[in-house]
Amino acid sequence: MKRTSKLFSLNDRIIIVAGGAGQIGFAMAQILADAGATVIIADIDTEMAGQKISDLESTQIRERLIVKTLDVTSEVQIKEFYQEVGKEFGTLYGLVNSFHFKGNTRKLDTSSNFFAGLESYPSEAWDQVHDVNLRGSFLMAQQAIPLLKKSGGGVIVNLSSTYGNVSANKSIYGDSGINSPVSYGTSKAALIQLSRYLATHLAGENIRVNTLSPGGVYNNQSEEFVKNYEALTPLGRMARAEEYQGPILFLMSDASSYMTGANLIVDGGWTAW
Ligand SMILES: NC(=O)c1ccc[n+]([C@@H]2O[C@H](COP(=O)([O-])OP(=O)(O)OC[C@H]3O[C@@H](n4cnc5c(N)ncnc54)[C@H](O)[C@@H]3O)[C@@H](O)[C@H]2O)c1
Repeated sequence: MKRTSKLFSLNDRIIIVAGGAGQIGFAMAQILADAGATVIIADIDTEMAGQKISDLESTQIRERLIVKTLDVTSEVQIKEFYQEVGKEFGTLYGLVNSFHFKGNTRKLDTSSNFFAGLESYPSEAWDQVHDVNLRGSFLMAQQAIPLLKKSGGGVIVNLSSTYGNVSANKSIYGDSGINSPVSYGTSKAALIQLSRYLATHLAGENIRVNTLSPGGVYNNQSEEFVKNYEALTPLGRMARAEEYQGPILFLMSDASSYMTGANLIVDGGWTAW
């Protein structure tokens, strides 16, 4: 039997958390570093990543977090990024695709056309969302393959959402100006399929690929929205970003060694009724 400390250990493993400056993204990066990994936070908003790292109390975790600028819509940048990782570390164990497009990387900006309603949804917003969420995840995974193969295998996790599994419930948004747009759900559903496709095609290379589907996290939403969301969640509340640390540690570590092509839904029960 492997002891708990070994089963969940990520000692000396190099893991990329793309979109790691985000709310859930940074919480995941922290726990992976705490489990011993060197974590490369690859994000378009490196200022936010740097700020969050400097606010950390643990020197040990801080020292295991590295920030690199990357726009996942640029294939050229992605190729250069992996060349750099290959040169600097020579090896790669894991990739977490955690980024997503929401109009403004820092806040829910209701003036963004990302939030437009179904009948007037602009095709440019549709393209932007799929460009980041789906094409970005595909390219990040595709370009990781040579390094993962060279390292003897590894793990990829794509972040989907409850809304990649079921349709958005528009009754919860009220007058908030936010909603969950059509492009978000379609791109997030496609990621579940991307994981399955990659899982079956890369199993022979000892590369496991899974999806993590989170539910909504508290993030200064309006009181009305939170109340509505909580009422529709069996656990009666939204999530805290830290509640995705256990699931990502499980998915990235040997604790999930027989799991590939799967979708781990962690949503307080939202999709259970
Ligand atoms: N937070 C939630 O309530 C929630 C709920 C369900 C699913 N999710 C999913 O979980 C994942 C992580 O969520 P989060 O809370 O960390 O999101 P977040 O919005 O806080 O962070 C997203 C990160 O992606 C980065 N990003 C955006 N465009 C990029 C690009 N072109 N290239 C590189 N980086 C880019 C942003 O700079 C940001 O740091 C997302 O994929 C999201 O869809 C989140």
